Amino acid sequence: MAILKVARLGHPVIRMETKSLNAQEIRLPETQSLIDHMIETMREYDGVGLAATQIHVARQIAVIEVKENSRYPDVPEVPLTVLINPRITKRSQKLVEDWEGCLSIPDLRGMVPRNESVICEALDRNGKSIHLEAKGFFARVIQHEWDHLQGNVYLDRMPNLKTLTHLSEFIRHWANRAGEKK
Ligand code: NI
Repeated sequence: MAILKVARLGHPVIRMETKSLNAQEIRLPETQSLIDHMIETMREYDGVGLAATQIHVARQIAVIEVKENSRYPDVPEVPLTVLINPRITKRSQKLVEDWEGCLSIPDLRGMVPRNESVICEALDRNGKSIHLEAKGFFARVIQHEWDHLQGNVYLDRMPNLKTLTHLSEFIRHWANRAGEKK
């Protein structure tokens, strides 16, 4: 396994649209080890999700996992989930706002409205279909990673940039309030 370099905003790959994978491509050892490297990279940097564009690969692969996380305390756990060719097929009308950050946009946080719940269809790392009904933080992470695979980042989803906050200021001024809200 290997820890990969994370592309930051400004690298063209972050804005690239991604190509889907067919069953044969999913089974390739290169793809399987890429997924392993993505998982290890996400864990190394305390991410809760990572999209392939973030490690300079414009393919439709994302990994998600929420465990006890110093970057996101007080959020519910999500087991390790590998999404290949994900499609969000249904979104709740209700939107909820909450803080987001991104490993490709280090040291910043912003309030982002997201659909409160989503249905996501994808393939797992064995090429098997998966159907996810997610709400709350899990739904938020799915939307964040799905956005990456279309070349979008959370900044694009903010109605304006007035809540954009450096992480140290977030911890000083906003972290507790965010905790109270949940
Ligand atoms: Ni991100």
